Amino acid sequence: MAFPVHRPRRLRNDARLRKMIRQFSVGPQNLIYPIFVVENLDQPKEIGAMPGQKHWPVEQIHEPVVEALQAGVQAFIIFGVPQNKTSDGQSALGDDSVVARAIRHIKDKCPEAYLITDVCLCAYTDHGHCGLLDEQGRVANDASVDQLARMALAHVSAGADMVAPSDMMDGRIEAIRETLDANGFEDVPIMSYSAKYASSYYGPFREAAGSAPGKGDRKGYQMDPSVIRDAILEMELDFSEGADILMVKPGLPYLDVVKLAKDNFCCPIAVYQVSGEYSMIKAASANGWVDEREVVMESLLSMRRAGADLILTYFAVQVAGWLKGEK
Ligand code: PBG
Ligand code: ZN
Repeated sequence: MAFPVHRPRRLRNDARLRKMIRQFSVGPQNLIYPIFVVENLDQPKEIGAMPGQKHWPVEQIHEPVVEALQAGVQAFIIFGVPQNKTSDGQSALGDDSVVARAIRHIKDKCPEAYLITDVCLCAYTDHGHCGLLDEQGRVANDASVDQLARMALAHVSAGADMVAPSDMMDGRIEAIRETLDANGFEDVPIMSYSAKYASSYYGPFREAAGSAPGKGDRKGYQMDPSVIRDAILEMELDFSEGADILMVKPGLPYLDVVKLAKDNFCCPIAVYQVSGEYSMIKAASANGWVDEREVVMESLLSMRRAGADLILTYFAVQVAGWLKGEK
């Protein structure tokens, strides 16, 4: 037998053949674009720590949506930044909340947009925690869950197509599912931030959402980066409580968790390429240290390879534009 029998390079020499035998790809239908809507804002404002991303007034929140739809992205996750913060996060609940108004505004201008809302109290509480505090200043799980279920119902009542709880309280998926069902919304899916780690990669987002905790950190409810068993437990709980889609967050540093999710759960898996991942690539490419487009596509492809069906990414519109140019 001639040496070597197997020459893997045979299949790599021709660009047409490489394309024929690809296993994974990224398409605009896999992407969800996060947008920030800010109460009482006069005009759009760049988010300093996230170059290319903006704060939008309610009246103009359709503008990034129109741009994304034109590029081929159809799904959005909406983050609200309210004017008033209170200890109970009351401004998250009304039918006049910044997110409820944004949903109605977008649905009016772009009915084809698929709207997901982030359900969490941290941008609405004056203490900046994702739930409510008890007298000792600890995050009170069950009271928080009730408030989160009310928040989810308010979003869906305003027209949200899906809700995505990101708070990491125990039992919130069951509570949200029950509340939605009891109000005739049994067909509205829940995408759960299931395996959400206490990560420093959220830094730029907390500037964007004004949601950094005033005192303490989120380690009492978000997962410890040195542990993987909780990921299985959290996903099992959320799935059994009725979550339709399980999310892993952050993205690139946690692809082992994405793979674990894919291999163990019979539902779509989402991954969040978070603000820190975004800003790091932006900073490096602005300096000419990496090629932005190549690095972004390679990162998203890695997430698809690990098993992500859906990717939440601030690059969504740019990526869809690049993909269009490729055809
Ligand atoms: C709110 C929330 C956060 C993110 C999404 N929803 C921040 C946090 O948990 O502190 C992070 C998104 C990002 O960094 O891009 N709970
Ligand atoms: Zn939160």
